[in-house]
Amino acid sequence: MKTILVTGANGEIGHGLITRLAEQGNVRILALDIHELDATLKPKVHRAVVGDILDTALLESLSATYNFDTIYHLAALLSTKAERQPVLAHRVNVDGTLNLLEMAVGQSRVQGREIKFLYPSSIAVYGLPDLQTKERAGRVKEHEWLTPRTMYGINKLYCEQLGIYYAQYYRQLDADATRGHIDFRALRFPGLISAVTVPTGGTSDYAPEMLHAAAQGKPYACFVREDTRIPFMAMPDAIEALLQLEVAPRPKLTRFVYNVTAFNPSAREIFELVRQAFPKAQVTFAPDLKRQKIVDSWPADIDDSAARADWGWKPSYDFKRAFAEYLVPGVLQCYRA
Ligand code: SER
Repeated sequence: MKTILVTGANGEIGHGLITRLAEQGNVRILALDIHELDATLKPKVHRAVVGDILDTALLESLSATYNFDTIYHLAALLSTKAERQPVLAHRVNVDGTLNLLEMAVGQSRVQGREIKFLYPSSIAVYGLPDLQTKERAGRVKEHEWLTPRTMYGINKLYCEQLGIYYAQYYRQLDADATRGHIDFRALRFPGLISAVTVPTGGTSDYAPEMLHAAAQGKPYACFVREDTRIPFMAMPDAIEALLQLEVAPRPKLTRFVYNVTAFNPSAREIFELVRQAFPKAQVTFAPDLKRQKIVDSWPADIDDSAARADWGWKPSYDFKRAFAEYLVPGVLQCYRA
């Protein structure tokens, strides 16, 4: 029986991850979130804790009570919200991650073994200066264009480095260095689209918002231009990617941080599939020039060949299949009830 801590448990990835982990069985899930865990998730977890990742006393008490095998540190403020509250974002995204890494170090000392630390990073770590460069850049690799323009992107990029530091160099001057006691593994996700939840505070939110509005018969004003193109992924694939990376044998991993992606439609192409499923969808394009600039600085596509080569990553859902077999049936069920 594995014991797993999930922070940001009530968020979009948390919903999908907890549901899948509970299905797998043989796990004891500790769910931590600043908000009360959804009633549907509560029966799936061993314990749901309402609390703040900035509360080190709370983290210490959890650490004293449980021996964690793996930490999925999902809690974060997304890019739009982080621009509105940059200092809070830095606290939650950076200090919060530092607190969890410290907790993992403490756990590894007590347990005398490595603790796995799974960290969702983002395409927001990339920052392209203009649309011409974005077009020319094509499929961006992990080491390219690491000049983020948002607080969120900067926080994610820094925390990737922090995780690598904890895994490789932590307290490197100590006589008895504790190197390698955290097995840090990060994924750079594209925009994620779920059939059962809607995101809050992101800038890739136009895709899920358009779909969920159409399913509810509500008009939607899309805040980016029709030709806007960034990578996306259906939520079940994002969860699979996390679970696959968790179990991948460490010797196979050539890096700590991996790009993963599935498809990269324009906003117009997303609208077309939404309209196919919901012919009465009322979608207009009313770009918010400031949010547009953020999305324009993100790559049109990313290169995930390292993940494919090292641990066999392959998404199950391409663009059409994601809509036909997951998103459309999922939202229909979601709003029928
Ligand atoms: N979905 C995130 C956001 O829009 C990007 O990782 O902020």
